[in-house]
Amino acid sequence: MSKLCVIGTGYVGLVTGACFADLGSEVHLMDIDQSRIDGLKNGIMPIYEPGLEQLVAQNVKSGRLSFTTEIAEALDGAEFAFIAVGTPSGGEGEADLQYVRMAAETIADLVNSPIIVVNKSTVPVGTGDWVADIIAKRRAGKPLDFSVVSNPEFLREGSAINDFMSPDRVILGSLDQDAAVRVSHLYDSLRCPIMITDLRTAEMIKYASNAFLATRISFINEIATICEELGADVSQVAQGMGMDKRIGRAFLDAGLGWGGSCFPKDVKALAHMAVIHGSNPQLLQAVMEINRNQRRRALLRLRKELGSLNEKVIGVLGLSFKPNTDDIREAPAIELIHLLENEGAIVQSYDPQAMENAKGSLPNIRFCNSPYEVAQNADALVLATEWNEFKQLDFERIAQLMRGKVILDGRNLWDPDRMREMGFTYFGIGRPNNKLYE
Ligand code: NAD
Ligand code: UGA
Repeated sequence: MSKLCVIGTGYVGLVTGACFADLGSEVHLMDIDQSRIDGLKNGIMPIYEPGLEQLVAQNVKSGRLSFTTEIAEALDGAEFAFIAVGTPSGGEGEADLQYVRMAAETIADLVNSPIIVVNKSTVPVGTGDWVADIIAKRRAGKPLDFSVVSNPEFLREGSAINDFMSPDRVILGSLDQDAAVRVSHLYDSLRCPIMITDLRTAEMIKYASNAFLATRISFINEIATICEELGADVSQVAQGMGMDKRIGRAFLDAGLGWGGSCFPKDVKALAHMAVIHGSNPQLLQAVMEINRNQRRRALLRLRKELGSLNEKVIGVLGLSFKPNTDDIREAPAIELIHLLENEGAIVQSYDPQAMENAKGSLPNIRFCNSPYEVAQNADALVLATEWNEFKQLDFERIAQLMRGKVILDGRNLWDPDRMREMGFTYFGIGRPNNKLYE
C-alpha cells in the first residue's frame, strides 16, 4: 500500500485524495484551513461535488483516508507528497505561487525520508525546477533525497470523480524518470494512457490544454455572433462541425462564455508567461476579449429589448459558473449581474447550490427559492447556468408570473420555436431571428 500526503483539500486535493484512497493507497489529506479539516472530520464537504461525500465516507471508514492540519503528521513516512494548493491570479495576471512556495518550504523543513514531490496544482512552466530549488536550498546543510514530478490534473468540477477515475490520459513530467514511473504506478488500476515527459513539457501541456478548450468556446461564440447577424443557427453549426472527426463536438456550446476557477486564470497566466518571455500571444488575447464580449452582448440585448434597465426587474436562473457545482469563481452569471446592477436593474436569482457562496459577491440581489419566484414580476428572464432542473420548467406558469415577455437563454437550453409559440420574446445565443443590429 503506497502512503501519500496531499497538501490542500480543495476540488483537486480532496478529489485526488479520496480517489487514491479508493484505489488502495493510504492517504493523509492536509490543509491549513482549520474549519475545512474540522468539517471533513465530521463528514461535512467544503464543496458541492456529486458523489464526493459518499466516496470520502467510504474511505474514511476503510481507514485509508484521514484529515489533519498538522503537516508533520501528514508527511510522516509518506512516499509521495502531492501539492494541490490554489494558484490564483496575481495582480498582473501571473499565477500567484505563494501557496506552492509555502507547501515546498514545509516539505523541505519536515521530511526526513526519501520522498517524491508531485505537483498537481496548475503552475507556470519552470515551477517544478523552482520547487526543487527551494527544497534543495533549504536542505543545503542536511540534504534530502527527493525528486519533483509534475502531474497536472484535468478533472472538471461537477464530474470530478468520474474524470479522475476515467481519465483520457495521465501526464507525468520529471527530470527523474524513475520517480515519474513510480508515480505512474499509483494510476495502474485505471488502465489509461500514461505519458511521461520532462517537467516543463508536462507543465505546458496543462496550460495548453485549458487554453485550447477556452479557445474552442470563444471560437464558437464568435461564430455565434456572426450567426445571429446572418440568420444561421450556431447549435446546428456546432453539430455539423462536430461530425468531422478532426474537429469533434465537445466544447462547442455557444453561450455566455467560459468562467470558473481555472480557464480565466490559466489563459491569463499563459498569456502573461508569453509576454514576459517576449512573445505576443495575440490568439489568447482575442480568446479572452471574445469571452468578455459574450456578457456585454447579453447586456446590449436586454437594453435593446427593454430600453433603459434602470429599475427593470431581471430574473437570473443559475449563479454557478457551470451546472453541478457550487463554485462561483468568475461565473458568467455574477459578471452579468454586476453589469446589470451598474445600469440600475433590480436582480432576483435562484441557483440550486451556489446561492450561499454568491451572497458575498452579490449583496444587493434578491435570492429566491425557486425558478418561479425568479420569474415573478420580471421584465426579463435570463438563463445563465444550464442546471438540469431548468430544462423542463412550467413556462405557462412563468408567462403568467412575469411582467414582461423577454427571455434570454444564455445557454441555448430551450427550444426557440416552442418559446416563441408560447408568446415569449425569446433570444438564444447564435440563433436565427436573433439580430442584435438591424
Ligand atoms: P481550492 O482553492 O479549491 O483549494 C486549495 C486549498 O489549498 C484550500 O483549501 C487552501 O486552504 C489550501 N492551501 C493553501 N495553502 C496551503 C498550504 N500551504 N498547506 C495546505 N493547504 C493549503 O483550489 P482547487 O480548485 O482545488 O485548485 C488547486 C489547483 O489545482 C490550482 O492550481 C488549480 O488551477 C488546479 N486545478 C483545479 C481544478 C478544478 O477543477 N478546480 C482542476 C484542475 C486543476
Ligand atoms: C476545466 C477543464 O475542462 C478541465 O479539464 C480542467 O482540469 C479544469 O478546467 C481546471 O484546470 O481547473 P472546469 O472549469 O471545471 O474544467 O469546467 P468546464 O466544463 O471545462 O467548463 C468551463 C467553462 O466553460 C464553464 O463556464 C462552462 O459553462 C463553459 N463552457 C464549457 C462553455 O461555455 N461551452 C462549452 O462548450 C463548454
